[in-house]
Amino acid sequence: MKIAMLNGPRDLQIEEHALDTSHLKPHQIWVRTRISALKIGTDRGNYEGAENVPGAPDYPRWVGDSNLGIIEGVGEAVSRFSVGDRVISRYPHQSEYVAHEDEVIVKVEDGVDDEDAVYAHLYTLSALCYYKPQFQPGENVAVVGLGVLGLGAVGLGPCLGARVVGIANSPVRMEMAQRMGAHACYMSDDPDLSEKLDTFTHGEGIDLVILTANPWPAFRTACQIVRVNGRVGVVSLPGRGEPPLDFNPLDMRWFYSKGISLIAINGKAGYLYPPEQGDRRQWETMCRFTLDQMKEGKLEPKRLITHRMHYSEINTAYEMIYHREKNMMGVIFNW
Ligand SMILES: NC(=O)c1ccc[n+]([C@@H]2O[C@H](COP(=O)([O-])OP(=O)(O)OC[C@H]3O[C@@H](n4cnc5c(N)ncnc54)[C@H](OP(=O)(O)O)[C@@H]3O)[C@@H](O)[C@H]2O)c1
Repeated sequence: MKIAMLNGPRDLQIEEHALDTSHLKPHQIWVRTRISALKIGTDRGNYEGAENVPGAPDYPRWVGDSNLGIIEGVGEAVSRFSVGDRVISRYPHQSEYVAHEDEVIVKVEDGVDDEDAVYAHLYTLSALCYYKPQFQPGENVAVVGLGVLGLGAVGLGPCLGARVVGIANSPVRMEMAQRMGAHACYMSDDPDLSEKLDTFTHGEGIDLVILTANPWPAFRTACQIVRVNGRVGVVSLPGRGEPPLDFNPLDMRWFYSKGISLIAINGKAGYLYPPEQGDRRQWETMCRFTLDQMKEGKLEPKRLITHRMHYSEINTAYEMIYHREKNMMGVIFNW
């Protein structure tokens, strides 16, 4: 089995690891990867050598978490999957894997393109940015930071009933946000940002900011543009790999005067009316919703694919994210 391993900052190698696929345990499945998608934010920090994320593995470590493959074998007691099923998982960039059937692995129905489906887990995290802060249809949402997760949040906005504005640090990303269905898009350093958002929201203000960028200036923008009593959902890792702060992140102007709620987008989201079995905010259920949007043509991550590469070119891709190449967005590795 081939797997991309990060042995230290900017030291990424494709390695050959043993994988026993001929003695599957009763509940195991064997999946051969067809494509995997590059994850930028967290992996870029790992690649650059930024401080470790609590609970995450140290070097040597795997990279990536968007994998689409075909089931090649199933253990005798597997009930959820059959040989030939197309599945998406959060497995790393690797050519094949063996997993327990109860892991977060979701079957992809016919009618969803591989290059959309491979993003379904990442876009489900973008959806969690709405669910966890209890988004209500009709609210005004600003997405600060337009990487994969931010553009996913922009694309999901219209599906969920949001009026969504993208806040970028590059005109290239503004254009991508428009392609994903943003109702408006502005630069975060636009001196007239506040007036423009006022006009965009008919004076109501931004109810929910989804913050997907690590740099502190992005955090400051989020707190500045959210309305009084609004909320800021933070999916990014503020400050990771960034220079130290030059302002107070809990400034009285925001937290005392405006009464903002800061919500970490991680862990579970609550749901008021749970069904008898399962939960609408269970990852797999949310992921199926994301896949349904793709099947219905309402959500098309493949619109943002800029590079298709053989897995052996993975170093080139990571060097491009290291250099923060704005023209690079969706990168698909073929295995
Ligand atoms: N909570 C979780 O479970 C979870 C899971 C996965 C990822 N994450 C985190 O989520 C974040 C987003 O991931 P991603 O893959 O979408 O990352 P990304 O590609 O780095 O996206 C962030 C984007 O925001 C831009 N940006 C930086 N400062 C800005 C500013 N002041 N105004 C507007 N835009 C600004 C960045 O530009 P530059 O490249 O120029 O800086 C980048 O294009 C990352 O922090 C990642 O670590 C969290």
